Amino acid sequence: MARINSDYLKLPGSYLFSEIGRRVRTYQAEHPEADVIRLGIGDVTQPIAPAIIDSLHAAVEEMGHPESFKGYAPDLGYEFLRQKIAVYDYKARGCEISAEEIFVSDGAKCDCANIQEIFSTENRIAVCDPVYPVYVDSNVMAGRTGEYDPAAGCYKDVIYMPCTAENGFAPDLPEQTPDLIYLCFPNNPTGAVMKKEQLQKWVDYANRNGSVILYDAAYEAYIAEEDVPHSIYECEGAKTCAIEFRSFSKTAGFTGLRLGFTVIPKELILEGVSLWSLWARRHGTKYNGAPYIIQRAGEAVYSQAGQAQIRAQISYYMENAKYIRENLHSAGYTVSGGVNAPYIWLKTPENMTSWEFFDHLLAGANVVGTPGSGFGPGGEHYFRLTAFGSRENTVEAVNRIIRI
Ligand code: MLT
Repeated sequence: MARINSDYLKLPGSYLFSEIGRRVRTYQAEHPEADVIRLGIGDVTQPIAPAIIDSLHAAVEEMGHPESFKGYAPDLGYEFLRQKIAVYDYKARGCEISAEEIFVSDGAKCDCANIQEIFSTENRIAVCDPVYPVYVDSNVMAGRTGEYDPAAGCYKDVIYMPCTAENGFAPDLPEQTPDLIYLCFPNNPTGAVMKKEQLQKWVDYANRNGSVILYDAAYEAYIAEEDVPHSIYECEGAKTCAIEFRSFSKTAGFTGLRLGFTVIPKELILEGVSLWSLWARRHGTKYNGAPYIIQRAGEAVYSQAGQAQIRAQISYYMENAKYIRENLHSAGYTVSGGVNAPYIWLKTPENMTSWEFFDHLLAGANVVGTPGSGFGPGGEHYFRLTAFGSRENTVEAVNRIIRI
């Protein structure tokens, strides 16, 4: 008789953003006249930049001619894109990462979720609390987290590292030593960052203990302050202890196109085995490569016109962030984030739970955000708003929130 993977039964009933979608649909069915503004899921709203669209058109045209048609992409990505990433994302920041160490994929979410497959199920994981749910859920599916304790809102075998207003939403080194450490900076959901010297402490800690840092840098393009690292490889020694995930989704509006990459340095060796070779083996077996036309679109991101256009888009979103942060602050809310990241993290008023505040905003202002408790117990009594809306919706949403 076939058996299910019973670890799936330890997961919450639905993924956080599916649950939010379900609640909003129910509300709209009951209130069809409501003009609901969504600042919940971090999905971009501005169209793809013209330089990227031109490149997409050209690549589509190539596919229609025998001499330029492309079939399967190389497993690890086209050289033309990997070279651009190596030069513009790494060499330009003083990091020595070769094109060969870059694995092109269809996005950081899949890679963050799948990377745990190359590690033993006996590894102990540590996550920030609050945390992007994918890191925990993918480890639950793999049987690495132990049972869920509903009272604590935690999995028994996971090390939760509190990120609080007191520590600036950047975790302190944990008391128990983890094998795998998930870090995401600029942070989703809090919008916090780590300065270079803070991140260096984590790199030194991982190298001392033989731990691996899984570093999600999907929001690095939003960094505005000088001393904030864009890559973990800006820290000394990171190549022997860290894997980095990057995404074109938030950088260049690719949430619908799908493109990202993972960096595994050749020096990253565990038990005498290169993690690069394990991930290459996995990629080759389970993945046929991101589509040619999308990789050409990714290449256009690095062109002069592409860079100017995506920088303008990022500025547009960060103006939204500023508007949300400053106006909610003036209205008496305790807010953080929104300076180096497109997320604003606010304390719920009057000690409301995160979901109470979600319902309050939905019913009172027809505005959707993300309840902080959906990101872990440390997110309770917090709420996340994204800066990815249109300007018009962002201004209207903030004004409605202030009025209720
Ligand atoms: C979010 O809202 O947290 C993002 O959509 C996460 C993601 O990119 O998957």
